[in-house]
Amino acid sequence: MYEFTDRSIRLDVLRRKAFNLRWAEQEEGVIPLTAADMDFLPPEPIRRALTDYISEGYFPYVPKLGMPDVRESIARALRERKGEPADPNLLLPVDSAARGMYIIAKAVLKPGDEAIIFDPVDFLFRESVLSAGAVPVRFPARIKDGKIDLSELERYVTPRTRMIGLCNPHNPLGLLYPEEDLRHILDISQRHDLWIMNDEIWSDIVYSGEKFRSIMTVGPTDKVLSVFGFSKSFGIAGLRAGCVYCTDKAAFDRLVEASAVETTAGGISSLSQVAAKACVDECYPWLDEFRGFLTENRDYALERLRAMSGVTCHTPQATFVLFPDISGTGMDAVTLTEYLKKEYKVALVPGGEQFFGPGSEGHIRICIATSRRILKEGLDRMEAGLEALCGSGKAF
Ligand SMILES: Cc1ncc(COP(=O)(O)O)c(C=O)c1O
Repeated sequence: MYEFTDRSIRLDVLRRKAFNLRWAEQEEGVIPLTAADMDFLPPEPIRRALTDYISEGYFPYVPKLGMPDVRESIARALRERKGEPADPNLLLPVDSAARGMYIIAKAVLKPGDEAIIFDPVDFLFRESVLSAGAVPVRFPARIKDGKIDLSELERYVTPRTRMIGLCNPHNPLGLLYPEEDLRHILDISQRHDLWIMNDEIWSDIVYSGEKFRSIMTVGPTDKVLSVFGFSKSFGIAGLRAGCVYCTDKAAFDRLVEASAVETTAGGISSLSQVAAKACVDECYPWLDEFRGFLTENRDYALERLRAMSGVTCHTPQATFVLFPDISGTGMDAVTLTEYLKKEYKVALVPGGEQFFGPGSEGHIRICIATSRRILKEGLDRMEAGLEALCGSGKAF
């Protein structure tokens, strides 16, 4: 019913508007398979809802804790799609998932506290912890039997630990946590009285045949502070929309306090709330087809990557990023991505300290949320660059 081809991509517009390592930031002719942001036009109901709101002409202050119908719609979607105990009265719309993470960190961490974050993981975990004056302690997240091995996690807890950062689904590994692993994390948090920053921004981008399970559905939720967002699933990153939510009123009050919405210094714009409501009320049929399309793109990209010299790649279950190991090329990730961009005009995100933590060295991240034609062209260029470097075909 929906089309995920070049016909749904306006490169002329993206070249003007898409920043953050994407089209508008690249030199002429470079294909960016970089930031986790889609090339497709977002689903139509978002534009319609915004146009309707704008056409009335007024843009007054809206409720400090968010527009009630917006809170209601998001909470309903979290309940219905993921079985989470989401209550609109304990859900605060905020201006991005990134902001949500900062709010959670500020609400529960004091300077000098420790927070366990996975390595690798999205840099926002590190940044949000640092912004609260706390210390990120990196837990090496190694893949074993297709999932993240948590057997050593508890050893990273010290008397100063106050929080564990959970990225589910995990960016950049693209993995889901099975129920028993979520229970294990909850058990650790209960034993040591730790908060959990539960980032579920990717929870709607799950490949065909896989099932997302939220930590909010496996045990006590009083210490779980969750973040959800709209940038990944619905392509509205520039509108800066997200939310934080939990099940405990006292914890919610701490989030509200940390968000500065009561003074109006914090808060999400009315337009972004209108867009967020349209996403969850009307765009899931679009998203479910998008997931089918992404599953085919993933399988295609995996086959291509696995045939390239010096590259291996595990199979992700979720997210629209792939995270191949490129250590077999003999180059570090930054040098390799610079080489591929300069010589072969394909931009990719390097592993390493900057974006995902030191444990991501030897890897690159590839965004596949684009048309098959653009993805193929990007992978063709990568393959040509690696062949020139390592010779053709597998080096081992
Ligand atoms: C795991 C994770 N959390 C949060 C964010 C931030 O999302 P937003 O654009 O809503 O700030 C991202 C974006 O890349 C992400 O991957």
